[in-house]
Amino acid sequence: MKSLTLLAPLLFCVTLLCSSLNVASDSAAEALAILKWKASLQSQNHSVLLSWNTSNNPNTKTSPCAWFGIHCNHADSVIKINLTGYGVKGTLHLFPFLSLPNLAELDLSTNELYGIIPPKISQLSKLTYLDLSFNQFSGQIPPEISHLVHLQTLHLAGNQLNGSIPREIGQLKFLTDLALCSNKLNGCIPASLGKLSRLVSLLLYNNSLSGPIPPELGNLRNLVEVYLDTNRLTGPIPSTFGNLKNLRVLHMFNNSLSGPIPSELGNMESLSEISLYHNNQSGLIPTSFGDLRLLTLAHLYENQLSGPIPEEIGNLNSLVDLELSENQLNGSIPASLGNLSNLEILFLRDNWLSGSIPNEIGNLMKLTMLELDHNNLTGNLPQGICRGGSLEYFTANDNQLTGPTLKG
Ligand SMILES: *[C@@H]1O[C@H](CO)[C@@H](O)[C@H](O)[C@H]1NC(C)=O
Ligand SMILES: *[C@@H]1O[C@H](CO)[C@@H](O)[C@H](O)[C@H]1NC(C)=O
Ligand SMILES: *[C@@H]1O[C@H](CO)[C@@H](O)[C@H](O)[C@H]1NC(C)=O
Ligand SMILES: *[C@@H]1O[C@H](CO)[C@@H](O)[C@H](O)[C@H]1NC(C)=O
Ligand SMILES: *[C@@H]1O[C@H](CO)[C@@H](O)[C@H](O)[C@H]1NC(C)=O
Ligand SMILES: *[C@@H]1O[C@H](CO)[C@@H](O)[C@H](O)[C@H]1NC(C)=O
Ligand SMILES: *[C@@H]1O[C@H](CO)[C@@H](O)[C@H](O)[C@H]1NC(C)=O
Ligand SMILES: *[C@@H]1O[C@H](CO)[C@@H](O)[C@H](O)[C@H]1NC(C)=O
Ligand SMILES: *[C@@H]1O[C@H](CO)[C@@H](O)[C@H](O)[C@H]1NC(C)=O
Ligand SMILES: *[C@@H]1O[C@H](CO)[C@@H](O)[C@H](O)[C@H]1NC(C)=O
Repeated sequence: MKSLTLLAPLLFCVTLLCSSLNVASDSAAEALAILKWKASLQSQNHSVLLSWNTSNNPNTKTSPCAWFGIHCNHADSVIKINLTGYGVKGTLHLFPFLSLPNLAELDLSTNELYGIIPPKISQLSKLTYLDLSFNQFSGQIPPEISHLVHLQTLHLAGNQLNGSIPREIGQLKFLTDLALCSNKLNGCIPASLGKLSRLVSLLLYNNSLSGPIPPELGNLRNLVEVYLDTNRLTGPIPSTFGNLKNLRVLHMFNNSLSGPIPSELGNMESLSEISLYHNNQSGLIPTSFGDLRLLTLAHLYENQLSGPIPEEIGNLNSLVDLELSENQLNGSIPASLGNLSNLEILFLRDNWLSGSIPNEIGNLMKLTMLELDHNNLTGNLPQGICRGGSLEYFTANDNQLTGPTLKG
């Protein structure tokens, strides 16, 4: 009923007299409220918004339901606004938060909206889908966003949002998709995110988040993708991540994570991509990595990993891209790597590897790139390495190899 306060008194009386008009008058109230917002936009003359107008025909009531980007329910009340990518420029200060009681989906992504995300956004109590990504919103994420208890998707990526991630977001128990990436968020990742039990996708990359990764994230058993890369995270990778049996992508590169890679990660049976490069991981590569049968990509380069390359890595039949350069790995290259029949990229540059290059490497018919520079490898290059295969790029400088060294 709050929306009626925007109506002329006459319309209000008509509504009381004839309940069948209720629908139409609600619709008119919603239309007027949306037009107020439109009037505040710098892009109101944009072709897309020209359809947002009052009818010239006095016999028809203004309804927003035929307007571009607006969808209504059977009662002609607005349930969805989708203006993604239409050059909408302005703020949300006059957005009709109070006047759209049935709005469930709001997609304003990829526009030129700026200013703060008003705390009043919490009035859109039926909202399940909110996407404000790729605009120029600034200021903090309002903690009041946590009052949107039905939210399933919250995308605020690619803005200028700063401050920390409100711990109250952990109350959004129906959330499946959370994307706060490419902002200027700082502070820690709140442990409360570990309460978002339905979460499937967690995208926090490219911010300035610091502190440790909360072990509580290991409770989120529905997670399929986790992108925490390009932040300032420190401390260990929680061993609880081993519980994430549905996880397919784990990106944590370009942080300052330290400590050993937990052997429990070998339990992430759906894992397809793990990228931990440019951190300070130390200790051994766990032999349990050999259990990650669906792994296609392993980027562990630029860390402080030591000890041998586990021969169990040779079990990873799906592996396409194995990059272990710039660590302190020693021992010899395991012959089992010759079993990786899908391997296209093998980078082992800048380690302490010794012994000869196993002939089995010559079996890798799909290998296009091989980097072995700056190790302590000895002996001959394997016979088969260039014969019939796909090798386009091979370097092995700064070793003690005999025979021709190929470049290119
Ligand atoms: C939009 O167009 C109207 C009529 O052509 C004009 O009066 C108004 O100033 C324009 N508004 C903006 C923001 O360009
Ligand atoms: C008002 O919107 C209708 C479509 O809903 C459009 O055909 C008409 O041209 C618009 N009127 C103005 C003045 O832009
Ligand atoms: C909005 O429209 C775009 C296409 O224009 C579509 O890709 C996107 O999924 C829509 N958003 C919602 C919430 O329906
Ligand atoms: C966040 O951004 C706003 C607006 O850009 C600015 O006024 C404020 O100082 C920033 N706050 C922090 C903590 O950086
Ligand atoms: C990282 O985020 C900033 C905005 O804070 C953006 O300008 C930049 O393009 C993003 N970089 C990547 C690689 O996404
Ligand atoms: C790593 O993160 C820093 C900011 O923390 C950024 O400037 C740099 O481009 C990132 N490097 C890579 C390889 O993503
Ligand atoms: C790793 O630790 C060393 C020594 O503390 C530090 O100098 C270096 O910047 C760290 N590297 C990363 C990627 O955090
Ligand atoms: C590898 O390095 C470790 C110390 O980090 C050492 O104990 C081990 O003997 C080395 N192994 C080989 C084969 O050099
Ligand atoms: C893997 O490689 C090792 C060493 O080359 C070999 O003994 C083993 O039989 C291979 N396993 C499979 C499954 O091909
Ligand atoms: C390389 O091997 C030689 C002798 O085989 C040894 O003296 C040297 O310490 C090794 N260097 C490294 C970095 O392992």
